[in-house]
Amino acid sequence: MAQVDLEKVTKVYENKVVAVKEATVTINDKEFVVLLGPSGCGKTTTLRMIAGLEEITSGTIKIDGKVVNDVEPKDRDIAMVFQNYALYPHMTVYENMAFGLKLRKFPKAEIDKRVKEAAKILGIEELLDRKPRQLSGGQRQRVAVGRAIVRNPKVFLFDEPLSNLDAKLRVQMRSELKKLHHRLEATIVYVTHDQVEAMTMADKIVVMKDGVIQQIGSPYEIYNKPANIFVAGFIGSPAMNFINATVVSERGGIWISTSGFKVKVVKEHETILEKWIDKEVIFGIRPENIFDKLFAIAPQAENTIQGTVDVVEPLGSETLLHVTVGDNSIVARVDPRTKAKEGEKIDLVFDMNTIHVFDKDTQQAII
Ligand SMILES: Nc1ncnc2c1ncn2[C@@H]1O[C@H](COP(=O)(O)OP(=O)(O)OP(=O)(O)O)[C@@H](O)[C@H]1O
Ligand SMILES: [Mg+2]
Repeated sequence: MAQVDLEKVTKVYENKVVAVKEATVTINDKEFVVLLGPSGCGKTTTLRMIAGLEEITSGTIKIDGKVVNDVEPKDRDIAMVFQNYALYPHMTVYENMAFGLKLRKFPKAEIDKRVKEAAKILGIEELLDRKPRQLSGGQRQRVAVGRAIVRNPKVFLFDEPLSNLDAKLRVQMRSELKKLHHRLEATIVYVTHDQVEAMTMADKIVVMKDGVIQQIGSPYEIYNKPANIFVAGFIGSPAMNFINATVVSERGGIWISTSGFKVKVVKEHETILEKWIDKEVIFGIRPENIFDKLFAIAPQAENTIQGTVDVVEPLGSETLLHVTVGDNSIVARVDPRTKAKEGEKIDLVFDMNTIHVFDKDTQQAII
């Protein structure tokens, strides 16, 4: 059992920087939780407070129901893997992995057993006699993880462990860490600013901005039901389109009206949007929910708009179109067979079931 509870945890540094503000989140036993957010949003600070490396200004951190605010890092049964691996250069891989256990006065035979077991899990048995400088980035990464595994901790904390690796290795390590999570049945808190890493690895994503938690949810929820404009814009690439709009009531329906087009909302959204008639909102739609009319299933006049193609970006499996509609520039991710040409007109069809609408003032999601 290893559940971690943060209750209104706040960190104010000596220089008055509020790095984390009233963070409340539950990390369940065996859960893979990703803290996601841009640089400086308080991810590392949160992780260091869980590890006990940073004092908490106010609030409570519990591990398995026990308050650990004043428990020393070494007594928290937590292992942290840092971004820069922090391997000892003069020690071999074996010694690096054994070091923590030696400090804790484990018997030699037990240390040997644990190091060899971890090396086997990570596929680095051949490397045990090497020094860190004789390893590739990915191998060093595995050693850093191995050093955490041998301690058999209740909770693993990872701080951007893949950021020093090249793109291909990152993808590979991503799935290895996921497999490792299943194998160890461990509770993991993983920090990254890479949304793809978060989406692919997490059971639960905690999105942070300026020290404040914006949303907690499964990757599916975060992607499909973003709580506000920040989360909606941070997740997804290319990013969601945001357009200034007004909700209007016309011809027996409710419409989203912008400077360049008007589209009709689906029945399921009408009840919510009735309260917003004649109010200004931000309309959001993801590029993949906009279709080239030629390849759209059952396009209708009320969800078709016309624009001018600025740029065509063929990516092979899909094509990105940058289209000007009125005062707005919209990105659509369309079928690669599109006949769109730069400078020419195009009809685009919106999937109105997947639209988002945000309160212009509070930035919070209405739909
Ligand atoms: N020791 C410190 N003293 C004062 N301010 C700090 C200290 N450490 C971090 N900060 C500030 O606290 C805020 C949060 O920093 P933190 O390192 O937690 O961000 P992060 O989300 O991990 O960012 P990154 O993605 O760049 O690693 C930042 O504004 C940072 O400048
Ligand atoms: Mg950080």
